[in-house]
Amino acid sequence: MGSEPSALNAAWFVIHKARMLRPTTDIELAAHALVSGQLVAFPTETVYGLGADATNADAVSRIYSVKGRPLNHPLIVHIASSELLSSWAKDIPEYALKLADSFWPGPMTLILKRTELAKDFITGAQESVGVRVPSHPVAQELLRRFTELGGLGVAAPSANQFGRVSTTSSAAVMEDLAGLMRGGDLILEGEDSEIGIESTIIDCTASLPSILRPGAITKEMIRKVTGLEVSEGLSRVRVSGSMEKHYSPMAKVMLDLEAVPGDGLIALSDVVTPAGVIRLCEPSSIEEYASQLYSSLRLADQLKLKRVVAISPKGEGLALAIRNRLAKASAD
Ligand code: TXA
Ligand code: MG
Repeated sequence: MGSEPSALNAAWFVIHKARMLRPTTDIELAAHALVSGQLVAFPTETVYGLGADATNADAVSRIYSVKGRPLNHPLIVHIASSELLSSWAKDIPEYALKLADSFWPGPMTLILKRTELAKDFITGAQESVGVRVPSHPVAQELLRRFTELGGLGVAAPSANQFGRVSTTSSAAVMEDLAGLMRGGDLILEGEDSEIGIESTIIDCTASLPSILRPGAITKEMIRKVTGLEVSEGLSRVRVSGSMEKHYSPMAKVMLDLEAVPGDGLIALSDVVTPAGVIRLCEPSSIEEYASQLYSSLRLADQLKLKRVVAISPKGEGLALAIRNRLAKASAD
């Protein structure tokens, strides 16, 4: 009996906190929140990001505590346009400039030699920095206003708890992080992330480009624009997304098995759903598969499914990026 009021208090506090962090569409407020050292979750075309002023050590350290992310994992700096690139990176090779010209704003992160501005708390004490210009209109507007207010870049990992599935809608961010954020922090609402998987990360610190994380900007696209050979996966730098287990839901993800009754199923629409199997998505193209993947894995957890069977898409390019995420979601 005696514990009831405090239990009620706790419930009230949780509800109140969630209420304060209701998603907003107020980009002006969000830009000011960033300038004053608060966290802002915002949509990008790949996945949602959890942003902080990339020059503010305290704000950036809160990204790590909210996400529960190990401190030595570097963050991507998001900038409004290529014009700000030279603030963060130096000795930029010609081929990286070509990539920036061709694919920014867009789903591509370039790893470049850092300037003084990119402190150890951004780069994980590496001599390189990751930079991206996102194309989502809300991200663009947020970064534009932030820059007008004197900001130089927004550090943002994917807006999800460490090791869990990235978020592609403001509702998913609410569910994953609202309870961990604090008053003054904001969750910006916008169109769901259209691409649905994280940016392609390209290491541009050597004489040839190398893909550290596959995404919507494919090896073929990079080769075409640069005219250079592109290597894959030969990482000399630390990429948290390259850890074996990542992007995992609670449900066990199994690849390319026959689904049995009670299983969830993620597969292209030409795959028939066996009786008793819960269909989580039916994408009719590789692009739709990518954009629905993370919300489907989250749905599996909402439905409290024990097991999800995913049928891997075939082919290169974006299909390869999807297989990369599926492999991580299914790792033990
Ligand atoms: O699409 C995306 O890239 C999203 C949106 C929000 O922009 N961001 C994202 O951030 O996926 P995150 O932190 O979840 O993954 C970024 C990856 C990490 O694996 C990190 O290790 C790597 O980028 N990274 C960042 N800076 C790096 C650097 N200097 N060298 C090597 N890897 C770096
Ligand atoms: Mg992430």
